[in-house]
Amino acid sequence: MTTKKIMRALAGETLATPPIWMMRQAGRYLPEYMATRAQAGDFLSLCYTPDLAAEVTLQPIRRFGFDAAILFADILLIPDALGADLWFVTGEGPRLSTITQASDFAALKPGTDVHDHLAPIYETIRILSRDLPSETTLIGFAGAPWTVATYMIAGRGTPDQGPAHALKAENKQLFEALMDRITEATIEYLSMQIQSGAEVVKLFDSWAGSLKGDDFVRYALTPARKIITELKSRHPETPVIAFPREAGDGYIGFAKATGADCVAIDNSVQADWAAKNVQPDGCVQGNLAPTHMVTGGQDLVSETQRIVKAFSKGPHIFNLGHGITPNADPENVKLMVDTVREGAHV
Ligand code: CP3
Repeated sequence: MTTKKIMRALAGETLATPPIWMMRQAGRYLPEYMATRAQAGDFLSLCYTPDLAAEVTLQPIRRFGFDAAILFADILLIPDALGADLWFVTGEGPRLSTITQASDFAALKPGTDVHDHLAPIYETIRILSRDLPSETTLIGFAGAPWTVATYMIAGRGTPDQGPAHALKAENKQLFEALMDRITEATIEYLSMQIQSGAEVVKLFDSWAGSLKGDDFVRYALTPARKIITELKSRHPETPVIAFPREAGDGYIGFAKATGADCVAIDNSVQADWAAKNVQPDGCVQGNLAPTHMVTGGQDLVSETQRIVKAFSKGPHIFNLGHGITPNADPENVKLMVDTVREGAHV
């Protein structure tokens, strides 16, 4: 029997105090992360150097004692492994070679051919399985096909995912071939993460909110269901967290329809609403606004308590509604963790 709190919540148990971790918990708001990144030279080298990637994964665990560690890597390593060019411009974000015509797509590798390139990531997972405290759960992850496709098509982050929506409208065949290729690679990647020691995997669909109506079902829900169904057939015991960010009403029934064990909720929806409409299906994760990690104070404490209370009648993993930002104050992270853990006595 596992006693790890995250695993218990994912199995559907309602805990007196919810377990807690934080999206982007290893990141630029921590001076020790900046020091290790400088040692690696740049962000991608950090991702591909197992000892250093494991070190930055462990830093927030040492500092805050989170209940889960999330593998340090990036969702854009899949395009890199498929043969797209990928680089990061400091202060601006990712840049990739674009996929806009059949010849760009033809140059990509098969989805089953990503393991050599991703071998350092699997090694990071093996190091972490050995070095993490016994009560800490190791979470692996990948981007969902739509979100990864938005970067591959545009060659960068876009505010409205315009280029991906345009390709979907103008050349559906190419768009869907790309979605299928990413889906295939993601299944292989997550499956190997699990074989290497990831105890849970999370699928980040950061731009799911820009898919409306049938498109949401076709390009967010269906690929998630395909990936989760295949993972469950290969690794039936490994829980999956799905994060269709800004799905709104699309959160309702998402876990049931995809087979996910937990749905992560962003901070655009109210915790009370999610407790009533999403939590009946199983564990939910979320959903404090990341801005509280910048502003702190009584608002942080009351909001944290409100969210803990709203989800207290069912399985819940406390988290932010999106990643912590570089301007956050580590003291505020500590205040959030203390508030969640002492919440039972407040
Ligand atoms: O959560 C963690 O601590 C684990 C590691 C992790 C990173 N990225 C490290 C990272 C995870 C889970 C991600 C996911 C990711 N990456 C997403 C989905 C989640 C989300 O935030 O919506 C997306 C869309 C990406 C793509 C990506 N990576 C972008 C758009 C950027 C640039 C924006 C930014 O924040 O700088 C990155 C860079 C990135 N990924 C950093 C980190 C720590 C910052 C890089 C640096 O150190 O300069």
